[in-house]
Amino acid sequence: MPRRSRIAHPTAIALALVLATPLTACTAPAQNGEPMTGIVPAPVSADYPDRAPFELDETTRLVASGEGAAGVAETFAALARTSTGYPLPVVDGTDSAEGAASDIAFVVAAGEAPDGAAEGYTLESGSDGVRLAADTPAGLFWATQSLRQLLPAEIERTDAEKAPADGWTVPAASVSDAPRFAYRGSMLDVARHFFPVQDVLDHIDRIALLKLNVLHLHLTDDQGWRLQIDAWPELTGIGASTSTGGDGGGFYTKDDYRRIVEYAAERFVTVVPEVDLPGHTNAALSAYPELNCEGIAPKPYEGIEVGFSSLCASPERAEATDRFLADVLGEVADLTPGPWLHVGGDESLATSEADYLDLVRRITAAGAATGKTVIGWHEMGASRDLPADTIGQYWDFVTPRDDAAALTTSFVEQGGSVILSPADVAYLDMKYPDDPDGPLGTKLGQLWADGPSTLEEAYAWEPTAIVPGLAESDILGIEAPVWTETISTAPDLEFMVFPRITAIAEIAWSPAPADGARDEASFQARLAALGTHLDALGVSYRKVGGVPWVE
Ligand code: ACM
Repeated sequence: MPRRSRIAHPTAIALALVLATPLTACTAPAQNGEPMTGIVPAPVSADYPDRAPFELDETTRLVASGEGAAGVAETFAALARTSTGYPLPVVDGTDSAEGAASDIAFVVAAGEAPDGAAEGYTLESGSDGVRLAADTPAGLFWATQSLRQLLPAEIERTDAEKAPADGWTVPAASVSDAPRFAYRGSMLDVARHFFPVQDVLDHIDRIALLKLNVLHLHLTDDQGWRLQIDAWPELTGIGASTSTGGDGGGFYTKDDYRRIVEYAAERFVTVVPEVDLPGHTNAALSAYPELNCEGIAPKPYEGIEVGFSSLCASPERAEATDRFLADVLGEVADLTPGPWLHVGGDESLATSEADYLDLVRRITAAGAATGKTVIGWHEMGASRDLPADTIGQYWDFVTPRDDAAALTTSFVEQGGSVILSPADVAYLDMKYPDDPDGPLGTKLGQLWADGPSTLEEAYAWEPTAIVPGLAESDILGIEAPVWTETISTAPDLEFMVFPRITAIAEIAWSPAPADGARDEASFQARLAALGTHLDALGVSYRKVGGVPWVE
């Protein structure tokens, strides 16, 4: 089993200093003096014919037809009413034959999405109106995210004072689009540092803009337990009081958590809860002595080491441990409308190999007994007793080391599939090379995953080229985790996540490049346009070099 240290190695720091490059300032790309528009992630096809644009004005109606279309139109209206100040009524379009040139049509109907793709959509815009169409409400919602990006960035503003000088125009466009992967994830570690509900809701809004459809919440770790569990109240009573660096604790009540899940669902984002087991459990062990082999609770932990805690495999603790697993995973599953339950399995360095295999069998069986499909980090592939369909999440490097590839293909051999999160390109808590206080001068970020890590690196990898033997159909999707040992505020989180998550979103959504090479220039130009939307949203993203950001 590969054992990875998450602690920055002195050699990595030295190398990072050598590699550090100064921040470059670039001017904005312009067309007729206007910033370029474009969509991130790149659609399957997008044409921008030289025709008159659509103009959204105070007469614009959102004309909804088909199951679920009105709900998607309302979500878009809530955003656009705030910024434009227009009424933007959502009206039933089922019977209306004639649309007005100022209308936006929201259509859900069989046969609308390209090739019937479940999340696919088409978008047509011009002086005679906008038509968004899909086979499913999810596809229609992704169409509205493209529309958002084609509108002036001011559409994101919450102060209605900033209407764009040239009006609310959408360029004439013809877009046909569908995602490459079904699972497009962002992982947020709320255990090392706790993030309040509003921060999580804001994060959901931002990942939805990028057509990411999964929020994986890393809810438990050595430093904190962040979700109320009724049968084991001290998990939060004691286990939620700490975080890394002595920054205080916090946890989600069940109502808080339901609010997050519901808000995500309105944006077609599925929440995947993770309870990290059998290692990364100091917070749980500190709350309940009966879960410890010695029967003594360890002190709460506020450092950044890993691999020192473990559930106990011994028969004397079997009753308590199995009751804990059934209660915790059962309550978490009950809060989870989505199909997946993540049970961790990584870095169990304090668990013997035999105990690890025994505990993984019991943990995954308890997870599957809830009716959910179990996900585990790739180390869990050491077990040959995984429930059917168990999904492995790969977190080694772009070039697999040790037995990481074999552990990952083990999930496929047992009938499951794989999520890819290669740490050296997809872990968003790695430092940027051109750190502004730098190089590497801020407290933010780590280096252990071959950091520092650039936007170009985040963009320049191909999912099918990571683990030998994996076919495209074995890959459920990809995910970008952000671990929060060094990150404790929403602005710092945004700074580390953006813009690198846009590269991950494009790899997850956009078609594989035919010649194997992604078009970095196109990505950077579209990202510059997206940057104007992030500015309007107030996202404190990192203006990395190489992108012609609009100043
Ligand atoms: C991990 O980074 N230990 C999944």
